[in-house]
Order: sequence, then structure tokens, then C-alpha cells
Amino acid sequence: MTLDLQLEDLKPANTTSPTVTKTMERYKVRTEKLNAWFGSNHVLKDLSISIRENEATAIIGPSGCGKSTFIRCLNRMHELVPSARSTGTVLLDDSNIYTRGVDPVTIRRRVGMVFQKPNPFPTMSVYDNVAAGLKLNGERDHAVLDAAVQKSLELAFLWDEVKQDLDKSGTSLSGGQQQRLCIARALAVEPEVILMDEPCSALDPIATAKIEELINSIKEKYTVVIVTHNMQQAARVSDYTAFLYLGQLIEYGETTSLFENPREELTERYLTGKFG
Ligand SMILES: Nc1ncnc2c1ncn2[C@@H]1O[C@H](COP(=O)(O)OP(=O)(O)O)[C@@H](O)[C@H]1O
Ligand SMILES: [Mg+2]
Repeated sequence: MTLDLQLEDLKPANTTSPTVTKTMERYKVRTEKLNAWFGSNHVLKDLSISIRENEATAIIGPSGCGKSTFIRCLNRMHELVPSARSTGTVLLDDSNIYTRGVDPVTIRRRVGMVFQKPNPFPTMSVYDNVAAGLKLNGERDHAVLDAAVQKSLELAFLWDEVKQDLDKSGTSLSGGQQQRLCIARALAVEPEVILMDEPCSALDPIATAKIEELINSIKEKYTVVIVTHNMQQAARVSDYTAFLYLGQLIEYGETTSLFENPREELTERYLTGKFG
């Protein structure tokens, strides 16, 4: 997954800052009849999901059901795989990101991604990992960079642990710190949506708890979509949950009601560990 991240994807978007006010039922991302393939393998089938702004939405379902593919369609990363294609609509703030002429790099700046395995830029310091995107965009003012690095590391709950070690290599940090560094790096360019693909699967329970705490904190300002195979985690961090099975959306609703009162038998069977 490391190769998925291009340095230019981190350039800040020249768009307005994320909305801070929570507005009821405001959707940040809406998919309509989204279908995706790898070659002839039809992996997403007519997914229509509306994702609420400034909330955390969890995507759950058995391995191979299409969770990663789904979120990779939300920032045009799916098409980076040569055999991949998709049809349907993905609206970001009401405009279709798949319309001809839309630059995928711009979309990836507005919709950031955090991967399963922490992937800091290996040759860079902690500071430069976070500042990379801003520097790439031409920011040279040290005071501006310093402030942005501190703010992003604070948002990622990492500042206190690394403020004395900003010149150390990013890869010298512990696994959990590296993942928070990657989150700080994603936040530094002020995206509007953060996609997280099983961000804790390589981490121990303490490191996981810190990431969950930070997700709960950043969703005040950002729209978060998190793929997780850990149902307790979905219950702890998300406001809404979508359950996918064999590329189809089986059930989608408020996390508490989906977990406590699933409407579909398939959801109930999954939640009670009867398959997958
Ligand atoms: N790079 C790829 N090339 C070909 N097939 C892929 C690729 N990535 C995923 N797939 C296939 O797409 C389907 C959905 O995979 P994925 O979205 O990774 O599921 P999940 O994240 O839920 O485990 C699976 O059948 C998987 O084998
Ligand atoms: Mg996956």
C-alpha cells in the first residue's frame, strides 16, 4: 500500500476550509449506483451511500467484500490499479468527482487517505513528513510551516511525544506514533474528508485506543470514513455504519441501532460472528 501515496497528493487543496458547524443531515459524499471492477471481477454492486459531514462513518463486512475498493473510489485511487474500472456517481459537495476534466490529484488532496500499515516517508524527519505537502505547494515561510506542523501534530495527539524530536527520522517512531504521524501528514494539507483503511490493524491495543480517541476528536472538523474489521471499534468510533457483503450494501444506519437492532438477517449473522 505504501506505493499508493504520491507526494503530490499531499499538496493542500485550494478550497475553502472545512465547515466547522454541524448541520443536521448535511451530506459530504454521496455515491449513486457505484459499481467497480478489477478486470471481470465485479466487486462493488450499485452502492448508493450518503455520508454525513463531520461525522464518522464505519464500513464493515467480511474480508474481500469490497470495503477498501469502496473507499478508494471516494478519492479516485481505485483507478490507479491498471485493471480497475468503475461506473456510477460519487458526489463530493454535490459535484461528481468522476466528471470528465476533474483532476484526480485535486480530489485526493480534498479527500485524504490513511493506510493499514503506517507509511511515513522513510528518508524524512518527523517535521518534514508533516510539512512535505505544504512545502510541495510552495510554502516557504518557516513560521507558517512551524505553526502548521505543530497544529497537525496536536490534532493527531502526537505533539507532546515528538516536540523534542522533530528532526528524528519518521521511521524511528513506534508503530502507533508512525500511524499518528501519517494522520498528522494527512491533516496538514487540510483535507475535507479523511478515509482510513483499517488504520489500527497493525497496532497494539494502547496504540489503537489513541487513534480511536483522535478519530473522535477530529470528526468535529472533518468527515471521517473508517474501514474496520473490528466491530467493537466501529461501535466505539462511528456515528453511522454501513455493512457490505459480496460488494453490496446490506444495511446502513446509525451505529447504535445497526448494532443493537439490525434490520437484516445477514447483518445480524455477521455481528454475532456466524460467518466472515
Ligand atoms: N489490486 C487488486 N487487483 C485485483 N483484484 C483486487 C485488487 N484489490 C482487491 N481485489 C479484489 O476485489 C475484491 C474486493 O477487495 P477489497 O476491496 O480489498 O475487500 P476488503 O477491503 O473488504 O477486504 C476482492 O475479491 C479482491 O480479491
Ligand atoms: Mg481492505
